[in-house]
Amino acid sequence: MTQMKKLEDLIVRDKRVLVRVDFNVPIHNGRVTDELRIEAALPTIQYLLSQRAKVILASHLGRPDGKPDQKYSLEPVAVLLSKLLKREVLFLHDCVGEDIEEKVMQMRSGQVALLENLRYHAEEEAGDATFARGLANLGEVYVDDAFAVAHRAHASVVGVPKLLPHAAGKLLQAEVSTLTGLMAAPKKPFVAIIGGAKISDKIEFMKNLMKKADTIVISGAMANTFLAAQGHNMRESVLDKKGFAVAREILATAQRKNIEVILPVDVVVASSPSSKRTRTVTVGQLDDGDMALDIGPASTTNIHVALQDAQTIFWNGTLGYTEEEAFRTASTAVAKTIASSKALSVIGGGDTAGFIDSIGMNSKFGFVSTGGGAALELLSGKKLPAVVALSR
Ligand code: 3PG
Repeated sequence: MTQMKKLEDLIVRDKRVLVRVDFNVPIHNGRVTDELRIEAALPTIQYLLSQRAKVILASHLGRPDGKPDQKYSLEPVAVLLSKLLKREVLFLHDCVGEDIEEKVMQMRSGQVALLENLRYHAEEEAGDATFARGLANLGEVYVDDAFAVAHRAHASVVGVPKLLPHAAGKLLQAEVSTLTGLMAAPKKPFVAIIGGAKISDKIEFMKNLMKKADTIVISGAMANTFLAAQGHNMRESVLDKKGFAVAREILATAQRKNIEVILPVDVVVASSPSSKRTRTVTVGQLDDGDMALDIGPASTTNIHVALQDAQTIFWNGTLGYTEEEAFRTASTAVAKTIASSKALSVIGGGDTAGFIDSIGMNSKFGFVSTGGGAALELLSGKKLPAVVALSR
């Protein structure tokens, strides 16, 4: 188990607290379209305000390549945050420098400020020590609540805790203990549903999963790769050709370990994701030009059956191309089955969490992780740089 220092043990009263959050959220036409990560950071912010701290929030947004780009400004997040907190949020147009230092020095207890995108400075991703010093100058103590970026050894994640008294925020603590607990001692039967596109991103995770899971459901575009590796002609479906060997290896390991693997038996196909003309076909009977974009009703029933006795359910990766309404059927049905199950349900991965949020079912699961890559690395058994930095 992790030995991260706890927020509750840090003296924050009337102090300038620099809080690393992950407000890397989708923004369209100047408005945040998925609030999950912002809402998830509220308990820490509210705790700090209850302690009369001066809260200075730092985040990245997107990948602006180390230079200012209005498209990646955090200003819309300040507007939403102010609404959610029902108090003013001061937006500062940079994250380091004398001007910013002066402004934070003038903050009063109970005030909240949000700094501009950390990744406007290339030094953030480079893990630059001088940049970390510039950030550390803003606070007297440091709290990390940015689980979704905990797998990146960036300046604000690993550099600042070397310079200030530090602790893990409530979200980071909950994420790490839930996901670590899930893999350490899951209640059995443990069913994992894995979607997404690339196997190569998930090899370590799948190997670790096979140490604990009783049933693994493989779905989404990842299932296309497994089916093709088994010899099915998946026609125009998205495949990870480099993943064929790994797919076969995973199937062989599962068989040796007596782990049930559930692959789709039918799929919903169309000529492209934007096409409205869809058909359901049995796997093995795709026609020229067909692209599998969702799993079919027989496959959904198989998943439903597998989930009946589950005590632990982990879901990462949607089952179809959920960006389009036409291919959300299976994911919506499985989300409802999981929501009505008595099992501990954990949803991991940015896209899956985004989908759950879009159908208004966030509160129906045991735990919805805010991390995509970070969750997978933790579930692969790797040590996250943020966790290491906060444990010192
Ligand atoms: C995420 O969305 O997974 C995190 O915010 C990390 O973003 P990154 O992959 O650009 O580092």
